[in-house]
Amino acid sequence: MSTKMKRKVKIKKKNMAIFITFIIVFAFAIYEIGYVIVKVITTSKEPKVEEKVKEKKTIKKKEPKKELSDYGEKLNKLDNINKEINYFREENIDRYIKYKEENPEIGTIQIIKDVNMNLDLTPYDDKIKAINLDTETILVNKYYYLDDNYIPDNLERIKSQYALSGMKLVDYAKDAFENMAKAAAKEDLNIVAMSTYRSYNYQVNLYKRYAREDGTEKADTYSGRPGHSEHQTGLAVDVYNQKETYTNFEKTDEFDWMQEHAHEYGFILRFPKDKVRETGYIYESWHYRYVGKEIAKYIKENNISLEEYIATH
Ligand code: DAL
Ligand code: ZN
Repeated sequence: MSTKMKRKVKIKKKNMAIFITFIIVFAFAIYEIGYVIVKVITTSKEPKVEEKVKEKKTIKKKEPKKELSDYGEKLNKLDNINKEINYFREENIDRYIKYKEENPEIGTIQIIKDVNMNLDLTPYDDKIKAINLDTETILVNKYYYLDDNYIPDNLERIKSQYALSGMKLVDYAKDAFENMAKAAAKEDLNIVAMSTYRSYNYQVNLYKRYAREDGTEKADTYSGRPGHSEHQTGLAVDVYNQKETYTNFEKTDEFDWMQEHAHEYGFILRFPKDKVRETGYIYESWHYRYVGKEIAKYIKENNISLEEYIATH
């Protein structure tokens, strides 16, 4: 090969190298630009870091976890007693806690019972409409009241040999009372109804008289204020034996007999000596309440008041 030819080949090789280098550089540049473009597009679609955190927080807020743990904390404060008893009332949970804080010496089960009986409330101030209306378990006391126009259905007069004149009870309580008095009469015992159904207005005058004579504080220990007397239910009866005054009923054979048998006819001693805290009234050996045989038996056997029965059922 001539020198001229050799130089030509050299030049060709050099040009080729330049061309290849250029192609490589160009391809690399295209790749880089493409990469940058793709990156810009995808990052603009993705939320920023702060937004991601925000999103996370919002999702957390929506979860009911916090509420559940609040409720769990409340149950903890009450020693998770809801697992042990079936009369835990969720709607009372804040009242249970408050009452427990105010009375740390009272055990938790008793706290539940007390609040279910409304002992955390103020008698006569925190009024609640009577519950279980027109049933054997109607509850009327210093918290639960009856409207002034409430008159029970089916009031009937008690047979004259077992009652002072005009004494009325709700039909099924009247039948039960007559059966009881009749059974006692077979043993020469004289159980006589001396005060039964009393209207709202009757109670207005009665309570007024007691309050005038004894002052309201004392009257409240033994007399229901209007609307708060169980006598308005037609299921309560005061008895005596026509020899002793009714306040001495406790000293009579009739009282002893009723202690043993009243529940068999569906009656309970409504204001026992040891239940003043629960009923709100002093001991009345003469005042009985019809609740039906089954409940009367339960109340007697468990030595509880009607308030405690209702608070735990
Ligand atoms: N003696 C009862 C408490 C009444 O008045 O209803
Ligand atoms: Zn009475």
